[in-house]
Amino acid sequence: MKPRRVRIPCAGLVLAGLFPARAVAQDAMSTSVHGAASMKDQLAALARLGLPDNGLQAPTGIDPTVWTASIVPGEEPTAARVALGRKLYFEPRLSTDGTVACATCHDVTRGFTDNRMVSEGVREQLGRRNAPTTLNAALLNEQFWDGRARTVEHQAGMPILNPIEMGTQTEQDVVTRVAALPEYQQPFQEAFGRAPSYQDLRVAIGSFERTLIFLDAPFDRYLAGDASAISEAARRGHVLFDGKARCASCHPLNPASPLGTDNAYHNIGVAAHDKDFEGLARQALAALEKDASEQALDQLALATDMSELGRFMVSRNRADIGAFKTEQLRNAGITAPYMHDGSLQTLWDVMDHYNKGGEENAFLDGGIEALALTDAEVDDVVAFLFTLTDVRFADANQRAFEAQKAQAAKSRPFKDPALAERRVLGFERRVLGE
Ligand code: HEC
Ligand code: HEC
Repeated sequence: MKPRRVRIPCAGLVLAGLFPARAVAQDAMSTSVHGAASMKDQLAALARLGLPDNGLQAPTGIDPTVWTASIVPGEEPTAARVALGRKLYFEPRLSTDGTVACATCHDVTRGFTDNRMVSEGVREQLGRRNAPTTLNAALLNEQFWDGRARTVEHQAGMPILNPIEMGTQTEQDVVTRVAALPEYQQPFQEAFGRAPSYQDLRVAIGSFERTLIFLDAPFDRYLAGDASAISEAARRGHVLFDGKARCASCHPLNPASPLGTDNAYHNIGVAAHDKDFEGLARQALAALEKDASEQALDQLALATDMSELGRFMVSRNRADIGAFKTEQLRNAGITAPYMHDGSLQTLWDVMDHYNKGGEENAFLDGGIEALALTDAEVDDVVAFLFTLTDVRFADANQRAFEAQKAQAAKSRPFKDPALAERRVLGFERRVLGE
């Protein structure tokens, strides 16, 4: 069961239809597309977050050796590179028609996501996947729902060339366009000591993302000994998270694993069970046989039905069919909707999904089984999840909590009314070895 895709009317595209592309490009800093805040408003919001001016030192809570090891030699996030990357992250002129920047889909005012089910790129094109947050992404072992890029520096080069994200163009097209903009000549010189190149552009954007580390949440203050930092409900939720609800087996969340992800791939039954996984897998192997380049894979993942194969597209391992990366839980309160396809709108929906054991399919992870948590227990885990949002987003987090709570009170589309009964049946089936 999948909710309908909702189309959000979009002022920016109306503008794009009325004015020639160049006029839109000039206005792009103050107009907004796809519901994103204007770049001007986003930059003002960014300034209030008090980010470090470089990414060379390990952020609080991260082991300095782990941080240094995550940086590819030669790609050090110096202050000059961070400053250049910040400019580029908010630059719509990286896209073919001057309308879409990284910040359109990873918006400062929306938890560095777009708060949409799936993302919309240039010319109103919808992709197949939900935009994860760029907050803390630098700390992930691999990027994307299927891990097809390793570092943020590597990842940053891909959406710019993707036809449905920032448009059909070559690395050279982008470099030529950026190099012709006078305001970029000096910053590229300062950051790299040479004229713009695509590789340096990727590194600069990644350097900026390395300053987006947001790990100072009420939960951390609670772990550090401030018992009053989180509510009693959230404390009960934490116990359930580590215990009966079995979340921590895939989302280990502790000082050694601060993001709450095992950095592994699982099929948790989000991909609809009526998908013809076998047929799609055959189609994918044939397509990859022809062209397994980074760009070909990126397009298959974002623009075709094969998107639902998830990690299989990268590993070609049958066990990875329908498996997606365990998403970090940091700042989840402000990054709805959830899952690789954005199909779950609230954290209550997420809990209802797990509580009934996901959608059955032949490749479902062994760690997913009906949990039969009570309504009160579900509320407690949700309360806990909302304590993982950085204190700098406390207001947005509170507003999101209220909004999700109101929505969940009206509608719980993924809640299984016959849960208790199903759990007994499932137990019998396992005992009988069926
Ligand atoms: C049209 C919307 C859109 C644009 C523009 C866009 N992204 Fe994304 N971004 C997405 C979507 C959707 C995904 C997930 C795709 C997937 O996993 O296959 C994603 C994934 C990511 C990830 C991986 C995070 C994780 O948890 O794995 C990072 C980092 C990221 N984008 C950064 C950027 C940067 C930097 C830019 C600009 C160069 C950018 N994005 C442009 C929509 C967008
Ligand atoms: C078997 C491993 C596994 C278990 C157990 C598990 N998760 Fe997940 N979790 C994942 C994977 C994999 C994804 C991404 C799946 C997808 O998009 O298809 C995910 C996604 C999520 C998301 C969505 C994050 C986002 O930003 O989209 C939340 C929230 C979440 N899990 C919370 C929980 C909670 C709470 C529990 C316990 C009730 C739990 N998970 C149990 C593996 C697991």
